[in-house]
Amino acid sequence: MPKYSIAVIPGDGIGVEIVPEALKVLEKIGARFNHQFEFRPGLVGGAAIDATGKALPDETLALCQGSDAVLLGAVGGPKWDTLPAPERPEVASLLALRKGLGLYANIRPAVVYPALVQASTLKPEVVSGVDLVVFRELTGGIYFGEKKREKTADGELAQDNLVYTTREIERIARLAFEAARKRRKKVTSVDKANVLESSRLWRETVTRLSAEYPDVTLEHMYVDNCAMQLIRWPKQFDVVVTENMFGDILTDEAAMLTGSIGMLPSASIGGRVGMYEPSHGSAPDIAGQQKANPLATILSAAMMLRYSFGLEEEAQVIEKAVVEVLNGDSRTGDLMEPGKKLVTTAEMGELVVARL
Ligand code: IPM
Ligand code: MG
Repeated sequence: MPKYSIAVIPGDGIGVEIVPEALKVLEKIGARFNHQFEFRPGLVGGAAIDATGKALPDETLALCQGSDAVLLGAVGGPKWDTLPAPERPEVASLLALRKGLGLYANIRPAVVYPALVQASTLKPEVVSGVDLVVFRELTGGIYFGEKKREKTADGELAQDNLVYTTREIERIARLAFEAARKRRKKVTSVDKANVLESSRLWRETVTRLSAEYPDVTLEHMYVDNCAMQLIRWPKQFDVVVTENMFGDILTDEAAMLTGSIGMLPSASIGGRVGMYEPSHGSAPDIAGQQKANPLATILSAAMMLRYSFGLEEEAQVIEKAVVEVLNGDSRTGDLMEPGKKLVTTAEMGELVVARL
């Protein structure tokens, strides 16, 4: 029986409620398709700070590096917000894990399911049929450039550097072009080349690489325009490729096309071990109340099967089950509409499992 080891790190807040639902789904898939998934629990984020004093304990990094894939919930919360920036869970665990595992490509698909068209804050004709995917560069740019803070005569000076190299741009752009080949053959490269030098290198590099993909249409778009186009006419997008911080911002926006950020999964790949996590955060406001939507995490598990294990059929079975559940009446709070039935995190997970 094929065996896959998965580092399971729920993290903080709703992470501990949504991850178990994804595990139930994987268990069921394993039983049905005869795979063995070995779940190896680990600590990150605030939970790890409380238990060990470190947001990313060495054992957790080693656990992740030694597994076939990582399933992560969410990190951070008000309890740790007052820590100095380098010690905060987001930076000290999430960014460190991304960097430590060499995960330079963050893939965030935004798909509007017919059953959720009404759940979006945008008009149905604008969102129905949206199917786009953002390739966000994840280990470079302003997140990882040199930072500085110093006293000046009249206050303080703070500095974050936005740095990119040709190689960093090429490798993420290549993944975007390859993905576009299997989709609608269009890449939108998003930058701020009218202002930023790093964006000029980005644009030149992507343009040069596009010669290798004559079957894919490449278009360049400034990030401010992209933010506008995403809510004006999102159906124009197929594959979007962009740098780290632009991708962070645009994917939250893209999430809202789908009705809720609770629907947006993500895959971070590029190293030997991929990491899969919902795009949303730890949602401290609803944590511990069984209110969170587990679907982004369940869909992230599907992405794990697809990208880390090459189990395309199994991934599609999960995605189909999610669609079927949404075609029914059950909704978590984030997707609630009049006439629907409010369900808990665990109930939503069970509904998906029942359809596998
Ligand atoms: C995300 C999150 C993280 C990021 C935070 C928690 C550091 O917003 O995964 O999009 O900015 O990358
Ligand atoms: Mg974000």
